[in-house]
Amino acid sequence: MNYKTALQHPIFSKISEAAASLQLDAYAIGGFVRDFILERGDAKDIDIVAIGSGIELAKKVASLLPNKPKVKVFKTYGTAMLRYQDIEIEFVGARKESYIENSRNPIVENGTLEDDQNRRDFTINAMAISLNQERYGDILDPFNGIDDLRNKIIKTPLNPDITYSDDPLRMLRAIRFATQLNFTIEAESLASISKNHQRITIITNERIVTELHKIMESEQPSKGFLLLEKTGLLKHILPELIALKGIEEIEGQRHKDNFYHTLEVLDNISNHTDNLWLRWAALLHDIGKAPTKKFHKTIGWTFHGHEFEGSKMVYKLFKRLKMPLNDKMKYVQKLVFMSSRPIALADYVTDSAVRRLVFDAGDFVDDLMTLCEADITTKNPKKFKKYHHNFQLVREKIEEVEARDHIRNFQPPISGEDIMTTFNLSPSREIGIIKERIKEAVLEGEIPNQYEAAYEMMLKEGEKLGLKVATKS
Ligand code: CTP
Repeated sequence: MNYKTALQHPIFSKISEAAASLQLDAYAIGGFVRDFILERGDAKDIDIVAIGSGIELAKKVASLLPNKPKVKVFKTYGTAMLRYQDIEIEFVGARKESYIENSRNPIVENGTLEDDQNRRDFTINAMAISLNQERYGDILDPFNGIDDLRNKIIKTPLNPDITYSDDPLRMLRAIRFATQLNFTIEAESLASISKNHQRITIITNERIVTELHKIMESEQPSKGFLLLEKTGLLKHILPELIALKGIEEIEGQRHKDNFYHTLEVLDNISNHTDNLWLRWAALLHDIGKAPTKKFHKTIGWTFHGHEFEGSKMVYKLFKRLKMPLNDKMKYVQKLVFMSSRPIALADYVTDSAVRRLVFDAGDFVDDLMTLCEADITTKNPKKFKKYHHNFQLVREKIEEVEARDHIRNFQPPISGEDIMTTFNLSPSREIGIIKERIKEAVLEGEIPNQYEAAYEMMLKEGEKLGLKVATKS
C-alpha cells in the first residue's frame, strides 16, 4: 500500500532529501499517520523517527528550508523540534526503551524501526510511512494498525501489561482514544488496565489533566468516565465522583445515583457547548452532595448546602490536580455554587426572582441556564416538558428584565458620593444602608433602575434615618 498522498506537504520532500544526504532512514510515524487514515483534518504536529540521530536530521532539514527555521534541541530526550509554516515537526532517533518500576524515565538505547514501533502505545499509533527515496510513501504496519482502525479497536502492540507498565499514562490514553474516536478497548487490554490501575499514581497531575480534558472535550464524555470508573482509575483521579455513586434506601426512601446523573448532565451539556470549563461545572455541579447527604424521618433525603460545599471542593480539587487557580476555577466555582438557583424558578417564575438571578450570576447567567437545562434528567415526560418550558420563560424574562433594568453588572443608580453630598455626610454606615435599600428596591421592581426614581428614594430613606438635606451655599 502506498501513502504518498499523505506526504503532500512540502516538508516531507525536504526531510527525505535530508535523510538521503545523511544516509539514514526516516519515517513519519504515530498520530500523524493515524489521523491521515482517519481523515481527521490537516495535521498540526508531525512526528518523524530517524534510524540514527533525530537531532542531526532536524538540523539538516532546517538548513534545506528557505527560511532556515530555528531547531529546538532537547538533549536529555535526544529529540529536536522545528516549526515550518503552520506545523510543528518533532524529530526523534529510533529507540529501544526499557523502564524502571515506579519511574517514568526510560533507559534509552538506539534501536531499529521495529524496536521503536514495539515501544509505542497502540497499534493504531505505531504505523510509519517511509520517507526514504526508494520506498517513499510505503506504509510499515507490523501490528495491523490499519485493521484496528477499520474495526475501531484500541490494542497495544506488546502484551498490555508491559505497554501499560512502561508508561501508565497509556491506560488513560486508551480511554481517551476510545472516547474521542468512539473505539472499543480490546478485552485483554481493558483487563490489564483494571489490574494495573494503581500505577497511574506515579504519573504527574499535569499529564493526567491533559488526557482528562481530551475526554471532556469529546462528543460523549460519559463514555470515558464510565470506563475510568469500571477500570478503577477514577478513584485515583477524581474520588469526589466515586463518592456520588450508589443509591441508599432507608425506610423505603431512595435518592438518585448522583454519579450516573452527573454523567447524564455532562453529556447533555456537551450537546450544547464546547466550553471546557462549562463542561467541568457540569461534571462537578453535584460533588457537594456526598458530604452533605442526610436522612430525615419526616422529609427523607436532603443535601442542604451542597452547592456551597461543592464550590469549596472545586478549589481543593483544582489545587490537587494542579489545574489553574485563576478565573477559570472561579467560574466553575460560581456555577457550582449557583447551580440550584434557576431550578427554584422552574415551578414559578417571577420578575424579582429573575432580577436577583441576573444580579447574582452577572455575565455567567446564560451559562448557568445552560447548566441547569442540562441538569433536567427526569424520566417523567410531563415534568421534563414543564421544566424546559419554564426555563424557556426564565430565559425570555432574563432578556426582558435586562433590556429594562440593566441588572447584569449592576451599577447603583445613586452613588455613595451622591448620598454624601446630598446629606452633607462624611463616610458612614448610613450611606451603606441607603445604597442597599435602593438596590433591593430595584431588584424587587419597586423602582426602575434610574437616577430620578433612586434619588426620590434616597431622600425618603435619608429622612427615615433622621438625615437632613444639605442647604446649598
Ligand atoms: N506515544 C506513546 N506513549 C505515550 C505517548 C505517546 O507511545 N504515552 C507515541 C504514540 O505513538 C503517539 C506518538 O507517541 O502516536 C505521539 O504522541 P502524542 O503527540 O502525545 O499523541 P498523538 O498520538 O499524536 O495524539 P494526539 O495528537 O491526539 O494527542
